[in-house]
Amino acid sequence: MCPQFDSGPRHLILTMPRFVKFTQKEPMPIEIGEKKIWICMCGLSDKFPYCSGKHKYTKDEDDNKNYIYDENFNKKVIKSLELEEE
Ligand code: FES
Repeated sequence: MCPQFDSGPRHLILTMPRFVKFTQKEPMPIEIGEKKIWICMCGLSDKFPYCSGKHKYTKDEDDNKNYIYDENFNKKVIKSLELEEE
């Protein structure tokens, strides 16, 4: 699964030496026959790519700020992040 990376601010999660930006706060339901599964769109799931309910930590995010989460789901606002094309 390829996480979203768009121009809108929301939150970031660091799992490897790369930044991935997730902008959604809710899972995406997918129906396969009569079975329904929930795909994580927030990036915080511990069962990725499936939703584990951790998106609850994103509920109070300000849409105009960027966040980083630690392994205990404590978040901090990212004040600046400079990126440069290679
Ligand atoms: S959408 Fe990510 S844990 Fe639910």
